[in-house]
Amino acid sequence: MVTLNDQTALVTGAARGIGKSIALKLADAGANVVVADVLKDEVEAVAKELEGKGVKAIPATADISSADQVAEMIKLAVEETGRLDILVNNAGITRDGLLMRMSEEDWDLVININLKGAALCTRAAAKVMFKKKSGRIINISSVIALMGNAGQANYAASKAGIIGLTRAMSKELGPRGVTVNAIAPGFIDTAMTQALPDEVRKQYQQRIPLGRFGTPEEVGDLVLFLASDAAKYITGQVIAVDGGMTTH
Ligand code: NAI
Repeated sequence: MVTLNDQTALVTGAARGIGKSIALKLADAGANVVVADVLKDEVEAVAKELEGKGVKAIPATADISSADQVAEMIKLAVEETGRLDILVNNAGITRDGLLMRMSEEDWDLVININLKGAALCTRAAAKVMFKKKSGRIINISSVIALMGNAGQANYAASKAGIIGLTRAMSKELGPRGVTVNAIAPGFIDTAMTQALPDEVRKQYQQRIPLGRFGTPEEVGDLVLFLASDAAKYITGQVIAVDGGMTTH
């Protein structure tokens, strides 16, 4: 069993869906968790749920595309727990549409939250991790970064950017004892995919060798492994949790 007793993890986009599952898994392993999201009420509710597991849970309402708010969030983590060991860059959004018709606003919003947000959090967290010469950064990309998808040029570019960020940062931070890896989830049952029309969900399902969408817990399990001691020699990697969808 993985134990992360006394470690501090910060999970962005932890108010619901995959981020919330990740926060629960890390808390189950004994980590104190900073629950970060733009959704204030939900963040507080998740923090309460985690506290029920006997760990410290710190709600942080922050927009990760703002450098100032990211700095405040990291400061809060260190003030409240004295450390930061694990960062999970999970927050992300979609604003789908064909590129030919996409507004500049929708392009910028997705890139700013999904890609710039992850970079800002990485930079701020790495400063803390440097001092201890250890840390784990886990970035949530997507199979859409690997396959592309019509109507998701902004999202695909942001998630492919996350993979580039992961590889570059594994090289920048490796010498300082910090590992950086990316997870590429396939179709996972959350609010994001429940918004898809039934017909589209069915079509996607047919392309998954294991024949079903994944669960947020199945992504959380890989995060837990990458945060654990068992993964200490793994860095710069992209691992798909997709029921075999991208196997080729
Ligand atoms: P979700 O929409 O349920 O959760 C995303 C969370 O991020 C929300 O709580 C939202 O409030 C938060 N968020 C949005 N903008 C933010 C900002 N500026 N600052 C802080 N928090 C912000 O989505 P889901 O499905 O749980 O996705 C989580 C991550 O997994 C996302 O990065 C998504 O792109 C990725 N992913 C999801 C897949 C799926 O099938 N659901 C597949 C592949 C990747």
